[in-house]
Amino acid sequence: MLPAISASNLYKSFTVQGMRTNALIDVSVDIFSGEFTVLSGPSGCGKSTLLAMLGGMTEPDSGRIRAGNTDLSSSTDNERDAFRLQNCGFIFQGFNLFPALSALEQVQVPLDYLNVPEEDARLKARDALQRVGLLERQHLRPSHLSGGEKQRVAIARAIVKDPAILFADEPTSALDSSNGFRIVEILRETARQLGTAVLCVSHDARLFSKADRVLKMEDGRLLSDLRPVSGRGIDTREDWHG
Ligand SMILES: Nc1ncnc2c1ncn2[C@@H]1O[C@H](COP(=O)(O)OP(=O)(O)O)[C@@H](O)[C@H]1O
Ligand SMILES: [Mg+2]
Repeated sequence: MLPAISASNLYKSFTVQGMRTNALIDVSVDIFSGEFTVLSGPSGCGKSTLLAMLGGMTEPDSGRIRAGNTDLSSSTDNERDAFRLQNCGFIFQGFNLFPALSALEQVQVPLDYLNVPEEDARLKARDALQRVGLLERQHLRPSHLSGGEKQRVAIARAIVKDPAILFADEPTSALDSSNGFRIVEILRETARQLGTAVLCVSHDARLFSKADRVLKMEDGRLLSDLRPVSGRGIDTREDWHG
């Protein structure tokens, strides 16, 4: 199978006040369609940097990233922006919703950017809200939604354009166990049902049992790449409800 994204030999360092940090050291990885991949590792090991780079938001110092027929590492900023708009959805820890918009309006925003006609956009937005179980709350603003519901709106907004790749950076960190579990289930279903390549950064070991694949990083390097025996999960400490 052709990967949705293929990265080879990525390097990235940051220098702040003369102090240099090697955030990524020779990272090579392929991310596949239809799979729920979890990227894990201790705080500061380079997870967010890698995710942002695979999503075309940060440029590597060296190395190569291909997504479909696009070579992101040799693209201009405009080409990368267009690629992101067409092909990528993003979910973050803090939801990033617009306070003044209803759930339905939030989910329609990316379609407006893609010039999808209003009526079509509304149908697609309702469909995405249905997928995350929030159709009946479509008219509510963020202030009337729980944290878990806000994150589900953010997921609907990210999947409404049916992106090839869905990136989630610590999407469950601000949520309690049961809400976090629901988010993980939705991400997994998105990969299964829509064929999306889902890459989810998390240091929460409870996600591992739900993943098709777990990548582990440490100090800027990719340390391991594991697939569970089918259906059994990688980590049996499954304590979401406890
Ligand atoms: N924009 C930046 N400027 C300076 N240093 C950064 C920047 N982004 C990340 N870093 C540094 O790179 C390393 C990896 O960061 P990050 O990718 O955010 O790690 P993680 O997401 O695994 O916690 C850290 O040491 C962090 O301080
Ligand atoms: Mg991070």
